[in-house]
Amino acid sequence: MKEILFSGIRPTGGIHIGNYLGAISNWVRLQDKYESFFCIVDYHAITTPYDIKELRKLIKDMFISILACGIDLNKSTLFIQSKVSEHTELAWILSCITNYNWLTGMIQFKEKSSHNPENINTGLLSYPILQTADITLYKAKYVPVGEDQLQHIELARDIVRKFNYIYGDTLIEPKPIITESKRIMGLDAVNKMSKSLNNYIGITESSEEIFSKLKTAVTDTARVRKTDPGDPQKCNVYISFHKNFSTQEDLMNIEDGCKNAKIGCIDCKKILHKNMLNRLSPIREKYQEISKNKDIDDLIELGNKKAKEKAKNVLNEIKEKIGL
Ligand code: TRP
Ligand code: SF4
Repeated sequence: MKEILFSGIRPTGGIHIGNYLGAISNWVRLQDKYESFFCIVDYHAITTPYDIKELRKLIKDMFISILACGIDLNKSTLFIQSKVSEHTELAWILSCITNYNWLTGMIQFKEKSSHNPENINTGLLSYPILQTADITLYKAKYVPVGEDQLQHIELARDIVRKFNYIYGDTLIEPKPIITESKRIMGLDAVNKMSKSLNNYIGITESSEEIFSKLKTAVTDTARVRKTDPGDPQKCNVYISFHKNFSTQEDLMNIEDGCKNAKIGCIDCKKILHKNMLNRLSPIREKYQEISKNKDIDDLIELGNKKAKEKAKNVLNEIKEKIGL
């Protein structure tokens, strides 16, 4: 029997290389080792402002993108959170044992509230309870996440411990698997890559789109002319991109070429572009192929069903334990 792994991603529309390198590519690797559940967390998405007309499309697009990256439905369960109502049922149960002040101290809650002081809704506050429900509903032992989610996993462990203390051993304390050791910075080199900051490269963008974005990517700012030596360790194009896409040999050549002013930044970006396409072109082609597939709604339905089966059993066990 394989150990169980769970992770979630918000349907932000398309995947950029930050999501890909930080999360999805690790999911693809981990799905061989664990019985994996991957969830598109649309209920989490509605805690912050969103476009009502767009959301359904974004959810489907995320599903297709994840498949294109290599999640294999014969190995993993990929599904939509709001289609498995056990998530919100369990979230309610867990909210009844979660201390209010555990939630108000969460960094993400404080950040999101300060971004949107006019709309500090209780969904934003109880967001980590729903996340705990996501994980515990499948009795997952491992949760691959970025560093920014560690506090939420720690809270999940607190909730599980309290539940098991009150009602007897039922839930599993989840452990994080940190997948995002280094944050992938955006093209601006100062902010984490994100859709909303428009400093991203999408995994399904065309060769031309990718190159024109790379041209704008901030390099070692001290290097003004081609004849100036540069420092790759101070260059985001090198740190966030080359290091993730280029071969050891290319990296060595670039280090030397840059430090000794033997290559210019445009040539350097051309090498990067070629290496990025090696990885991303198959994903783009697969994305286009899956998008044309009329059976995609059936695949989504199947994933929802598979998840629901497991979730239903666990929720029944929980209800039994709490006297319902
Ligand atoms: N909160 C996570 C994020 O913002 C997404 C998420 C929701 C999640 N439920 C989860 C991640 C369960 C891991 C496990 O990235
Ligand atoms: Fe960065 Fe490459 Fe330019 Fe050096 S040559 S500063 S590594 S883009």
